[in-house]
Amino acid sequence: MKTVLADRIRDLPPYLFAKIDELKNEQRKKGTDLIDLGIGDPDLPTPPHIVEALAVAARDPGTHRYPSYVGMAAFRAAAAAFMKKRFALTLDPGKEVVCVIGSKEAIAHFPFACVNPGDVVLCPDPGYPVYATLTRFAGGEPYFVPLRREAGFLPDLDAIPADIARRAKILWINYPNNPTAALATPDFYKKVVAFAQKHDVIVASDLAYSEMYYESPPPSFLETPGAMDVGIEFHSLSKTYNMTGWRVGWACGNATLVGALGQVKTNVDSGCFDAVQHAAIAALSGDQACVAAQRAIYKERREILCGGLAAAGFDVLTPKASFYTLIANPKGTTSIDFAARLLTETGVVATPATGFGAAGEGFVRLTLCADKARLAEAVARLRKLKL
Ligand SMILES: Cc1ncc(COP(=O)(O)O)c(C=O)c1O
Repeated sequence: MKTVLADRIRDLPPYLFAKIDELKNEQRKKGTDLIDLGIGDPDLPTPPHIVEALAVAARDPGTHRYPSYVGMAAFRAAAAAFMKKRFALTLDPGKEVVCVIGSKEAIAHFPFACVNPGDVVLCPDPGYPVYATLTRFAGGEPYFVPLRREAGFLPDLDAIPADIARRAKILWINYPNNPTAALATPDFYKKVVAFAQKHDVIVASDLAYSEMYYESPPPSFLETPGAMDVGIEFHSLSKTYNMTGWRVGWACGNATLVGALGQVKTNVDSGCFDAVQHAAIAALSGDQACVAAQRAIYKERREILCGGLAAAGFDVLTPKASFYTLIANPKGTTSIDFAARLLTETGVVATPATGFGAAGEGFVRLTLCADKARLAEAVARLRKLKL
C-alpha cells in the first residue's frame, strides 16, 4: 500500500503532553486523587440566560436549516455592538465582522486566506500551537519569535532578521497571552502597527481572553491607530461566558482580511448553528454582570493558588489577566521533568510550557479551572514538595 498519510500529518511535531498523559493514566490506575490544573477549560457553567436562549432558539424550526456562511446579520451586529461598547471601535457588521465556529476554527483557516507556499508566518514561542501548525498545513513556514520573561513576554520585533521580515506574511500576537498570561501595552501595539506597515505584514491578533482580567480591561489591537489597515482580530465566547463546548466566536477588522477568511469558510464549513448564534447574541447583548462575577471568582482563586505558592517559596508569575499562571522550574530541572514530578509526587497536573514551544523551557503552566477548595489542596500538596 502507498503511504496512507500526508506528509503534513507525518511531519506534525511530537505531542509533548504524551508523557504527562501517560503518567496521568498511571496515577489514575493507582487511585491517586488528581487535581488537574493542566487544561484551560472553564469548570464553571454557562450562565442560565444563555442556555435558555439556546433552548428557545433550538425549539424554533427556523433555526434548523443551513446557517449563513458568515453568520446571521443579527449576530454580526451584536458582535460589532460589543466591540463598540468594550473598545470604542466602530465596525461595519456587513464587511468587517464574520461569525466563526469558535476562534480556533478561524485561526486555523486564516492562513489559507493569505499564505502562499514559502511565505513566512511569525509565531510567538511559547504560543498557541494552532498558529504554526496551520501555517505549515497552508504551505507556509513558521518563524518562531521568542517571548522572554525579562521582556514581559512581548516579542522583540527589531530582532527579527531582515530577510525573514521581508518574507513574512502574518504576525500573530495574543494578549492576554496563553501560556504566559502577559498583557500588551498600547505602546507595544503601536510598534506592531509600525512593523506591519514597514514590512507589509498582516497582523493577526488573538483576543480569546479579552474579558478575563483582574485589573484594567486589556485593549484590542484594533484600537491602535492604523491597525484597521493591517489587522484582523479573533474573538471568542468560549472563556468569557464558559461556552467552550458551544463553538462560537467572531473575527473582525480589515474588510479585505475578514472577507478573505469568509471566502475560505464558505468553501470549508457551513456556518455556526443559528440557535447557537441566538444564544451568543443573548450573551453579548445581555447583562455582563455574569462576566464580572466570574472575574471575581477567578480573582479569589488566583489569590489562593498564586498567593499560596508564592508564600511557599515558588517563583510564581501571578497573572493580571487570563486563568493561567506560570511557575518557574527549580534550577537544573526541565519543564517536562518538573511537571512529571508534580504529577507523581503530588497528583497535581501541570502543563510543561515547552508544549507551547521551545522558549517555554523553564516553566510549567497551571490553570485556575478548579474550585477554591481544590486549589487550596493543590497548594497544600505542593508545599510539601522538596525543591
Ligand atoms: C490563545 C488561544 N486562542 C484561541 C483559543 C481557541 O478558543 P475557542 O476555539 O474555544 O474560541 C484558545 C483555546 O484555548 C487559546 O488558548
